[in-house]
Amino acid sequence: MFGSLKALPADPILGLLAKYKKDNNPNKIDLGVGVFKNEAGHTAVLDCVKKAEQHRTNTEDSKVYIGPTGSPVFNDEMAKLIFGSEHKVLNENRARTISTPGGTGALRVAAEFIKSCKAGATIWVSNPTWANHTGLFAAAGLNVKTYPYYDYENKSLDFDGMLNALKEVSSDDVVLLHACCHNPSGMDLNNEQWQQVADVAKDVGFTPLIDMAYQGFGSGLDEDAYGLRLMAETVKEMIVCSSCSKNFGLYRERIGACTIIGESSISVDIANSVLLYVVRVIYSMPPAHGAAIVETILSSDELRNEWYVELKAMRDRINGNRQLIVDKLIENGVTRDFSFISRQSGMFSFLGLTPEQVQQLQDEYSIYLVGSSRMSIAGIANSNVDYLAKSIAKVL
Ligand code: LMR
Repeated sequence: MFGSLKALPADPILGLLAKYKKDNNPNKIDLGVGVFKNEAGHTAVLDCVKKAEQHRTNTEDSKVYIGPTGSPVFNDEMAKLIFGSEHKVLNENRARTISTPGGTGALRVAAEFIKSCKAGATIWVSNPTWANHTGLFAAAGLNVKTYPYYDYENKSLDFDGMLNALKEVSSDDVVLLHACCHNPSGMDLNNEQWQQVADVAKDVGFTPLIDMAYQGFGSGLDEDAYGLRLMAETVKEMIVCSSCSKNFGLYRERIGACTIIGESSISVDIANSVLLYVVRVIYSMPPAHGAAIVETILSSDELRNEWYVELKAMRDRINGNRQLIVDKLIENGVTRDFSFISRQSGMFSFLGLTPEQVQQLQDEYSIYLVGSSRMSIAGIANSNVDYLAKSIAKVL
């Protein structure tokens, strides 16, 4: 049976990490996978996470099954984090949140749920989008199409192109939007643009699916959820996939959430029964450890405040790195305008290099970027930025 298989190429993001790990060059720089790193290049466990884990170790008294929804406390806390505690969808009891194995698990559950609503449904994703979106939705049997998003030429948003394309989608299509920190471009919608997109969603009647993998990494927890919250106030039905990988640094714990919003509390309960069936037939129930950490942090004033401080420090470091690399490129004689990097948001930016230049950075300088020239900003440090800027100057 296995004999008919052909080997697949390595994943464009995870494959890069494997290559980086094997590289013996002491100057190597990992600007590939989207993980936060400190000045020393290390992805440390947050202090608030360590304390929450200690608390769980002391107090957890059973490992018995929790059920397909995951922990109700985690789900409630996540819903408040996503929407803000006074949001209309919570007051009207129209949202249901379940724990999922990471943000990717949330997306796959959402995709299977969409398929249950309509076999062969079309989902529109931004051009470009996270490299795994297309494969993930296609693997669930959805028809994936793209709408214009990033203007590669002008290093800005092709907002007119986006809006015009969204006006043409069908009312039973789904449109994937990045809540903040667009992966891979770093270009986000501003508040007025969110309003226009929400108006189009309402007029056309498509279902928004909002992927929020980086809440708190752009401008702040509430600021980053602005568009999502506005959309949830505007449309009748919506899906949100969120992740605790980045903002809680819980990458390997695989903890995220999938939230559905329905027209009424009765209709969302029906939809939720389908969502839970999807969970049951894929992985039965989500892992509990990551959810236990997050709910412990969010339910304690002390740990929550500690988390805010640690999250802000991660955000500030990334934003500081944006300006740092722009300045260093100028200092190294690069005349091409890279100032757009400092105007973008979140973990990533496109440098706008050719695939050959990206390959040259990897082969000759051991600098690892995704082939599209997506750079993970958190990999920049004071200790490597000169080497990075000089190397970019050389390949240019
Ligand atoms: C990324 O885009 O680098 C992250 O979301 C990690 C991943 O799974 O691809």
